[in-house]
Parts: sequence; structure tokens; C-alpha cells
Amino acid sequence: MNIDKNTISEKGFLDLEIDPRLDLFAEIERLKKEKNAVILAHFYQEPDIQDVADFIGDSLGLAQKAKQTDADIIVFAGVHFMAETAKILNPTKKVLLPDLKAGCSLADSAPTDLFKTFKDKHPDHLVISYINCTAEIKALSDIICTSSNAEKIIESVPKDQPILFAPDKNLGAWLNKKTGRNMLLWNGACMVHEIFSLEKITKLKIRHPKAKLIAHPECEEVVLAIADYIGSTTQLLKYSQSDRCNEYIVATETGILHQMQQSSPNKTFIPAPPNNNCACNDCPYMKLNTLEKLYLCMQYELPEITMDESLRLAAKKPMDRMMDISQKAGLIG
Ligand code: 13P
Ligand code: SF4
Repeated sequence: MNIDKNTISEKGFLDLEIDPRLDLFAEIERLKKEKNAVILAHFYQEPDIQDVADFIGDSLGLAQKAKQTDADIIVFAGVHFMAETAKILNPTKKVLLPDLKAGCSLADSAPTDLFKTFKDKHPDHLVISYINCTAEIKALSDIICTSSNAEKIIESVPKDQPILFAPDKNLGAWLNKKTGRNMLLWNGACMVHEIFSLEKITKLKIRHPKAKLIAHPECEEVVLAIADYIGSTTQLLKYSQSDRCNEYIVATETGILHQMQQSSPNKTFIPAPPNNNCACNDCPYMKLNTLEKLYLCMQYELPEITMDESLRLAAKKPMDRMMDISQKAGLIG
């Protein structure tokens, strides 16, 4: 059977049968060596994928790794905007994403045409966009930021310069508070971080009085208001390692608990409860990637991320500004 990009099913991945006797962990290791491929995984990936990855990180760490790698193939175990970012930063590499439908509700909340109209209405504003957006939105932006460097990026802009911040209104509102700015906010949000129930978290805190609430800044203001610590996934992980408390309620996607639990086996990590009856707050996009899809994608080098070169160059400019500011601030090496 000839496997090419036409084989990718409407579902967005190679829907091929795999011999159930195969040891996928060993096969993936073999493919990495044979093809000089590197697997970059976000903290929100399922534990099996984190365990086969060469680097696990947050959006900033992953972007930096993607930029620096000398592997021939970057296998991105994350969502579409992250794989796109890797292609923007390192265009000569083949960038693979196990499932093309691994999107992001936050990126979807900023359609290009609507955003361009909004931006055009505010020509005096500098546009800072959170990395969770499409390449088209990046191309319309002046600087990109992640949750790890957003404060430093905003502080690098003169105080009298009006800023338009997109697409996450929760992160934007939190940054307005932290930096004392009054950035104009695009009305977007992440479905995973908006699902937490203040009422259920409050009840959980009563049952676990010693537990600290640690939260990602994509959460709603009411949740952030009662958090003991707020930070990006890497910052939350580092805090859980260095802090002396033994119990944490974690208000972000559940994938991060795998690394927290591995690095602090004697501590207890409780996922913050969502406002529905489902016990999980998994990102449905991140969790589209599976070990099987990862294996097939490495075997056949599909699906691949490709991009128009003029779009890539336009999207690279604000990414380069982000990398420069992050380097000067000592946030990346
Ligand atoms: P960070 O990776 O910057 O912590 O952001 C989390 C996220 O929502 C990624 O989609
Ligand atoms: Fe997007 Fe939210 Fe999923 Fe992150 S957790 S990929 S912001 S939908």
C-alpha cells in the first residue's frame, strides 16, 4: 500500500492497523535513531507519550528546543499551534504532528478576519499575542508571549504605549493586574481552564485544609483570586518541587500531574474539580495524540506541517522578538 498524505483520514491522522504484538515504546525508540528524530512533548500529553519524549516542557521551553534542535525530524506531541511554531522557527526540519485535528479552543477563538478588523480599529495599539494562536494571528502581531514570559514581555514595552492583548482574556486580565497596565483584551478563552468550579474547589480546600491551590493564569479570575501560586506549567512544576507543602490542588490540565508526581513521589496532587459531573479536566485536543498515532506518524513521516513561506516569515518576526526579550531577561539560555 502506498502511504502518502492522501492516506491521512478525514479524522486528521493515519488510521492504519498496527500489529498488537508490537512493543510501541521500543519501536518508537528505534525510529528515533533510524530517522534522527526528536520527540518534543507538552506537559499535557498522556503519560506514555511523556515517557517516550526527548524533551517535555511548556510552550516556551518547547519553542526553544524546536529552534535549537539539530535532529532532521521534529515530532511534535502537542497541539497544532505548537507544531506550527516549530516550523516557523526551524523551517528546514520536517515537523510532524500525530493528529492534525489536535487544535486549541483558545487559538480557535481568534479567527483571522475578525481579529484583523479589531486590530485595524486600534492602529495605535501594539499587538501582543499569546503563543496559543494560529500562524496567521502571529503574523498580525508585534510580539508573541507565553505564560512563562508574558510579564517580562509586557514590561519591555514603554508604559505609555497602548497594547492590544490576544487571544486569552483571562491571562490578559491577570497580566493587567500584575503589570498595572490597561491592555485592551480580545475576548478568547481556553475551554479547559474555564471549566473549574469555584464552589467545588472551595469545598475541596475545606476537606484538605493544608493543601495549596496552584493555578495556571488561563484560569478565570475567581479561581486565580484564591490561588496560592499562579504560573505556567513549568513554573507550577518547579513550585511543586521546591515548596515545602505536601498537598496541592492543581488547577490546570491533568497531564502535568504525571511530572509532578514523578518528581515528588511523597506529595499528593489533586486535580482541581471541573463544573460538570465528569471527573476529568483533560484537554480534548492534547489528548487526541496517542502512542499509536505517534508511532504511525514516525513510521510514515505523516501528517507533516507545511506553511507558505511569506506567512512563515511574517509569523517569525514577533516570535524572534519574544525570543530576544526572553533571552535578555534570562528566561531562556
Ligand atoms: P504553558 O505551556 O505556557 O504553560 O501553557 C499551557 C497551555 O495551555 C498550552 O496549551
Ligand atoms: Fe488550547 Fe486550552 Fe488545550 Fe491548551 S489546554 S491546547 S489552551 S484548549
